[in-house]
Amino acid sequence: MPDWFDHLAARFLVFDGPDGSGKSTQFGRFAASCREAGLEVCEVREPGGTSIGEQIRHVLLDPANHDMDLRCEMLLYMASRAQLVEQTVRPALQRGALVLADRFISSTLAYQGTAGGIERADILEVGRFAIGARWPDLTVIFDVDERVAASRLSPLLDRIEQRGVEFHRRVRAGYLAQAAERPESFLVVDASREVDEVTEEMMEGIGAHVARWTA
Ligand code: TMP
Repeated sequence: MPDWFDHLAARFLVFDGPDGSGKSTQFGRFAASCREAGLEVCEVREPGGTSIGEQIRHVLLDPANHDMDLRCEMLLYMASRAQLVEQTVRPALQRGALVLADRFISSTLAYQGTAGGIERADILEVGRFAIGARWPDLTVIFDVDERVAASRLSPLLDRIEQRGVEFHRRVRAGYLAQAAERPESFLVVDASREVDEVTEEMMEGIGAHVARWTA
């Protein structure tokens, strides 16, 4: 196990990317490696991760709620996030655990922001209110184009996944724009390749970021 794993205690890492990017598989692999290295790992997923958050998740993803207003949608994602940070993320970081989140504010900026049309500044302002000062140390983006992503999704799509190829093309662009703007806090991994190759690139990339934190 590389020795940079020792520097992950009390850090906050986010795994994010378009639906169908394979991020959740890589998330599981990374979490398992961290546990093998002896770290305490706190895994969370968004929307959800708490009892209140899972109830919000159900409202957000239910195809019956197709008429949900975009601002309502953005605020519900943030509400779930506020609960998650207060109840789970902050205490875990305080006791020295590594927090791994499957999606975070980068998802809202990509889906409700770039793809949906809400101003970035508005999302960031609500985000600051929802999560306070605890922003992720690193956000790993699993990048795939919208066609590869669509081919990986199950035929039973949730409310967000049903939005089609053009929406998902903008989601991808939203992630890449965030990474281009703040390269010190983002890592983009080419997730179109075979799963083991993606894991290898992810490990190397995270290791390079950790080396910079400790230099
Ligand atoms: P999941 O399938 O990775 O659990 O994510 C649930 C869906 O919610 C996915 O289509 C992305 C979407 N989403 C947003 O639109 N905005 C957000 O802020 C988050 C966290 C997820």
